[in-house]
This record gives sequence, C-alpha cells and structure tokens, in this order.
Amino acid sequence: MLSRRNFLTSAAFAGATVAVGTLDGCSKKSTAAAAGSSGGTSAKTITLGFSQVGSESGWRAANTQSIKDSATAAAITLKFSDAEQKQENQIQAIRDYISQKVDVISFSPVVTTGWDTVLKEAKAAKIPVVLTDRSVDSDPSLFVTLVGSDFEAEGERAAHLLEKVLALPGAPKTVNIAVLEGTTGSAPAIDRAKGFKKIADASHPEWKIVASQTGDFTRDGGKQVMAAFLTAHPEINVLFAHNDDMGLGAITSIEAAGKKPGTDILIVSIDGTHDGFVAMTQGKINAIAECNPLLGPQLMDTIKTVLGGGSVPAWIKTKEGDFMAADAAAALPNRKY
Ligand code: AHR
Repeated sequence: MLSRRNFLTSAAFAGATVAVGTLDGCSKKSTAAAAGSSGGTSAKTITLGFSQVGSESGWRAANTQSIKDSATAAAITLKFSDAEQKQENQIQAIRDYISQKVDVISFSPVVTTGWDTVLKEAKAAKIPVVLTDRSVDSDPSLFVTLVGSDFEAEGERAAHLLEKVLALPGAPKTVNIAVLEGTTGSAPAIDRAKGFKKIADASHPEWKIVASQTGDFTRDGGKQVMAAFLTAHPEINVLFAHNDDMGLGAITSIEAAGKKPGTDILIVSIDGTHDGFVAMTQGKINAIAECNPLLGPQLMDTIKTVLGGGSVPAWIKTKEGDFMAADAAAALPNRKY
C-alpha cells in the first residue's frame, strides 16, 4: 500500500523523470507515458483499458458509472472489464490490454499483493498504469499515481463518529463491537481496520471487539455473517461495517433476530450511498463516514496529464465528509450516488 515512506523513496516510471518532494508536494512525471505505447497521443484518441474489481456494492455501481460517464465526457475510448472480485481476472484483463497496446491502463486492485509481475509487463510495454480507488503493495515505480481515498483516515473517522454516537443520550456504557470487514487482503479492509483500531487502542479501553469477520463488501455477506455473530455473541450492541452494503445486509439479520438496528445495535459504516443515507433517515444506521466513488472525472484528468507528459502527485486524494443520522434527511436530496 502507499505509505509516506513509499512516496519519499519512489523512483521513476519506465525511465520517467520524477520530482520527489514533500508528501503533499511529491509528484511524478512520466516521459514514457508522454510517449504513449505507440509513440504519441496528442493527435489521436486516448484508449484506456480499465479493470474494475467487480459489482459487489452500491459504491462500486456508482464508481463504474462515474468512470464510464467521464470517459465519454473526456472523449477517451474506454475498454472496460469486470473482474468479479477475482485477482486472476484482473491480471488477465491487464495482460489483454497490454497485448491490445492501449495507451494507458487503470485498475482498482481487488487485493494489495501479487501485482509485481503484471505491472512489470506493463512497464516493459511502456504503458503507464494509473491506480484508482485501491492501492497495491508493489514498488511505486511500477505505477504512476493513485486516484483514491485515504482508507486509514476513513477508519479513524468511523471511530470518531462512534464516539459521537456513544455520547448521545441512552447510549450504552459497555461497548461490545462486531466488525464486518471488507474483502480480505484489500486495501480498504486492511486500512479501515487499522484506522479504527488506532483510535480504539489510544482512547477507548472500554470498547471491546467481540467478533470480526469478512462479509466481502456485499449485502449478502453482511447479512450472513451478522446472523452468525448474533447467535454466537448476543451481547453485541455496536456494529462497525466497513461499507454500507454489509451494514444494510446486517440490518436484515438484526431485525430477523427481533432487535432494533440503530437502537439495540448501534451501527456506523463507511461509503455514504443512497441506501445508506435512507437507512440513516430511518434511524437504522447511526453514522456514516463518506468514501466518495465519483472518481471518474479526476481519473480522466489525471490520465490526460500523464499522457501529455505532465507531473501528477503520487497520490491524488478524494475529499469526503462525515454524517450523523440527524444530518441525513437534509443531506439526502443532494447526494449524487
Ligand atoms: O474500495 C472501496 C470499497 O469497495 C467501498 O467502500 C466498498 O463499498 C467497495 O466494495
């Protein structure tokens, strides 16, 4: 995953010129990218090969739509494939894009590890790679930049939202937390857990994580795992779901168990999808830390800059907000996903 150390030690992409500065000022400029895979892109349409993780969540549906719409708006030819949350499908898609000699490859990696070989193949073919949404553990010289969120900060923000929820009248003093984790080995699952734990360990000895398991970022996963949690741990009174969809699935199981989501079991999740907001207006989710999926416009701008030979920061972060259930009704009409 991207880290401050990686930024500060990152090398050039495919013989590129790299300006390395402070964390925020750090930028990369790819001369190989400027040349494109077939000797220049200024006079021709850019072709982007994009490998999407899958269609596991409402967030992902919004992200896919954003990428398709913004490619059209930017007059970029998009080759799109859905990996169905399988790394082997993403690796195959990237290899196909390399053999098709696209100008640039972008993907949202399902997990953080196992990308070195295929990224080296793209580099050897002089095709720049722009990561979006999720990061990888590979050498940062193998990709140009990441356009996406700070997942560790999202985990911290979720913990701070839980502090606020637990400060409301009637909240429990004994805090028995269940965690529905995202896809095992994925950047958001790893980093959100880390961020949440950081705040819990530093400030909340009274918070006990009594159960934690992956629900694979899906509604059905959240439903199944929460049902098992409730049987094994009837003392659970807080749920931290790594995304809204798992929280929404869990609500079904909580209600089926005769408990009231948002009251008997307080729920904090991450994303801020339309359905998550509706659940907040119903008092079933107590708070959401936003993770913005509308990355398409920034991604297309970044691709144009990279292929034009310009410099881009090593990490282009997304701006996001925090919402308590009390804010949801006013915010809902303005939500874009
Ligand atoms: O990588 C972003 C995460 O992936 C979103 O939080 C989740 O909903 C999606 O599946």
